[in-house]
Amino acid sequence: MKILGIETSCDETAAAVVEDGKRLLSNVVASSMDIHAKYGGVVPEIAARSHIESIMPVIADALDQANCSWDDIDAIAVTYGAGLGGCLLVGVMTARTLAITKNKPLYAVNHVEAHIYANFITQTSLPNYNLPKKEPAFPLLGLIVSGGHSQLVLWRDHFDYTLLGQTGDDAIGEAFDKVGKVLGLPYPGGPSIARMAKSGDSHAFTFPKARLEAKYDYSFSGPKTAVLRTVQKLCGKEHDFPSFKLAELLSEAQKADVAASFQRIAVETVVDKAVLAFEEFNPAAVAIGGGVAASPELRKQLSERIPLPIEYTDMKLCTDNGAMVATLAYYQATHGQPAADPYGLDIQPNLSM
Ligand code: KG4
Ligand code: ZN
Repeated sequence: MKILGIETSCDETAAAVVEDGKRLLSNVVASSMDIHAKYGGVVPEIAARSHIESIMPVIADALDQANCSWDDIDAIAVTYGAGLGGCLLVGVMTARTLAITKNKPLYAVNHVEAHIYANFITQTSLPNYNLPKKEPAFPLLGLIVSGGHSQLVLWRDHFDYTLLGQTGDDAIGEAFDKVGKVLGLPYPGGPSIARMAKSGDSHAFTFPKARLEAKYDYSFSGPKTAVLRTVQKLCGKEHDFPSFKLAELLSEAQKADVAASFQRIAVETVVDKAVLAFEEFNPAAVAIGGGVAASPELRKQLSERIPLPIEYTDMKLCTDNGAMVATLAYYQATHGQPAADPYGLDIQPNLSM
């Protein structure tokens, strides 16, 4: 069963073809990140407009790369939430139109769940993909860490899961992006901080970890504000000094130390909870997904503290992509989940798990 997956929830216009929920036949991503970098964050209207320009060429490339014609495609899958409204609309309207005109079943996919399903892709003939050797087993502890989400989820089986905890304020990736901005590093902050942190001392500063009542919830606004206060102090500036001017006053060594210390604390925050959940639920596998899953620091800390070998997927399947959407849709199609109505499917920007 070959499924075309379409993803447009944020700044990546993406399409991919996945066979039987495990074989990656193509994966095409056009990002409008370069444009947003100028503004230090995603501008929703610009992202939506770039989706309109890119969506059809990206889908054509995905079919081409997979050596498929429309006749070979068995179903179309699309992210319908969570995400930016204007962006989701482009993907959903395109998928609905194609489902009707090409006469294919349509599957509506939850973006956050899909991030974990990237780990079910185990085969490809495409060059330069480092994939897990086998799909994760259940019960599966999933950690979704991205620009919009930080969630800890226990899957007993496909479509049978419990959301253990999530962030009450900023998502972890968002915190990386904001700290990156304070340090004057290029957007997105996650990879920039990872690069900068390499030459820094991760114990130079002790940023506080939030203490929350709910066992598995996170908060990243505290450590993020602590970074701002520390940087103000290092620069000898008060709260009223414009934060975008602070970076010019920092040395490269100071930036590296702040980056390394923040990265350690932010990653520890999610790993602490993953370890707690591991001890409580004794899962057969642990999987991570979302842009921050590309973080080498996260992979290092998890591998050190979880007593189970964790298979990580390729960095290209951690950030937003159409392959994870196609993969989850395959399980929907084969596990009795209903197809969507191509005449009625609506977006759900605040879709939760
Ligand atoms: O999943 P994603 O592509 O989009 C959302 O659904 O949000 O995640 C983007 C986020 C950004 O906040 C970016 O800073 C972060 O992923 N990110 C990283 C790394 N690569 C991307 N964070 C930490 N380390 C990385 N290497
Ligand atoms: Zn995402």
